[in-house]
Amino acid sequence: MRNQMRPLPRALPALLAVMLAGLCSTLPAMAADNKTWITVGDAAFKHLQKAAPQLVARESKVLRTNESSAKMAATEKVHLVEVDEVQLAALSEAVHKELKRCGGYMFHASEAEGKRALATTAPLATALLSRPSYVIDNQTVVPGVLSQMQASNITTTINDLSSFVNRYYKTTGGSDASNWLKTKWAGMATGRSDISVTQFTHAGYNQKSVILTINGTDNASEVVVVGGHLDSVNSSNTSETGRAPGADDDASGIASMTEALRAMIASGYKPRRTIKFMGYAAEEVGLRGSAAIAQDFKARNVNVVGSMQLDMTNYKGSPSDIWIYTDYTDSLQNDFLAKLVTAYMPGVTVGYSKCGYACSDHASWYNQGYPASFPFETLDGDDNPYIHTANDTYANSGNQAAHALKFAKLAAAYLIELGSDGPGAADRVENFSGSLTSGQTKSFGPFKVGVGSLRADTTGTGDTDLYVRKAAVPTTSTYTCKSDGATSTETCTVNMTANGDVYVLLKGYKASTYNLKVSYKPQ
Ligand code: BES
Ligand code: ZN
Repeated sequence: MRNQMRPLPRALPALLAVMLAGLCSTLPAMAADNKTWITVGDAAFKHLQKAAPQLVARESKVLRTNESSAKMAATEKVHLVEVDEVQLAALSEAVHKELKRCGGYMFHASEAEGKRALATTAPLATALLSRPSYVIDNQTVVPGVLSQMQASNITTTINDLSSFVNRYYKTTGGSDASNWLKTKWAGMATGRSDISVTQFTHAGYNQKSVILTINGTDNASEVVVVGGHLDSVNSSNTSETGRAPGADDDASGIASMTEALRAMIASGYKPRRTIKFMGYAAEEVGLRGSAAIAQDFKARNVNVVGSMQLDMTNYKGSPSDIWIYTDYTDSLQNDFLAKLVTAYMPGVTVGYSKCGYACSDHASWYNQGYPASFPFETLDGDDNPYIHTANDTYANSGNQAAHALKFAKLAAAYLIELGSDGPGAADRVENFSGSLTSGQTKSFGPFKVGVGSLRADTTGTGDTDLYVRKAAVPTTSTYTCKSDGATSTETCTVNMTANGDVYVLLKGYKASTYNLKVSYKPQ
């Protein structure tokens, strides 16, 4: 029954409709040219191959899921598969009959896009320029903001969003809901010249994502993201008139974020880092809105130091309150979320679970190498049975928003703690590792720091030498500090009397492997 109501991927009928729409309008003779690309996990791929033995993976990759070993660490293989019309029919069959809980896939418009997705699925790749140290030090601000937050405001937003006939990515309601959210957020920001609201236009469909930005005061290039999806789906009726209130999936997530935003604005809070609230388009048809945004941020080298996804926050189906999903997420940031709950939300309990596949927009950030977290309403399997139907209503979430309020508070605590860091704050630890051939150099930075000291430490094999310099990349003859002993264990500390940039250079004196740790301590 459960699986019939919610086969996996949960929006599969709608996804297949999207994929088939293009194919059905094509003459059979042209079908060979009409290709679709998906990436799937190993278990899903095996099932697909049973149904369509001719199916081959064009490219495969082993992923190390970035989880602490205590919490379900794993490796996983992901395959890029080309699907044509005939295979798609078999695929659909296989998914309905067998795939059930091991599926999920991401849709790609072209082979190149699929390859790009596969190439960037390594967690925490080059995109992460500054890793926060996750020190909790805003006890004078956070409790006051959290105490102002109210479930009744969340109820209002959920009901407003649910009142669109649907918010499907292709319908009028879907576009209208995006415009409505833009207007709502812009209204909340009235009088704040440091806040702006824009819509992100997507290729191929009218629904736009909505992005509210609070500019950081003195560390604006570092960005913290909180997101949810503004679209909804009724998997058995994706027409203009198909009813899809999506009260829990995901009006609840948007409503939780919106209440965090309201309370932060009401308190007059001004972040040092830039904060972005995102309402994503087209999540239910393959994370398409968030994938486009995360790709764009990566392409523009935007330094997103953390992202949090709120998708389904209001159905209380498990004993613990907040469930931290450990797959397609970042273990260090997940640990930080658990610490935030302990520090600021007495009585609220945390559990750990996983989706098993890229089940929401956090995966789009993760796939681009940015730290992502996904705190969820229940243990996977205990979640709201009404999603993707006309019955995903506020009433069927128990006529309350007390559960969603916990996620709103967690989001506010997360945004304020990460948002308040910049030069002069003790929040910077960055780790790098790699290897050098004899004579090879590699530079790191700039590390933007305030008054205090920046310390660089290396360990490793062979013989790595370390150079640190203020304001410019060091050379082996020009540096502020050098450490060039006969091993790869080196240390340099540079004292800063004003805000500024520091650069680090490593040189393989002999062939070596290195772990470089760069940390900053304010005065
Ligand atoms: N909110 C769901 C994801 C979800 C549902 C997570 C239940 C955990 C428990 C999301 O909107 C969704 O439906 N995602 C799709 C996958 C996506 C790639 C289309 C899904 O899970 O099938
Ligand atoms: Zn959802």
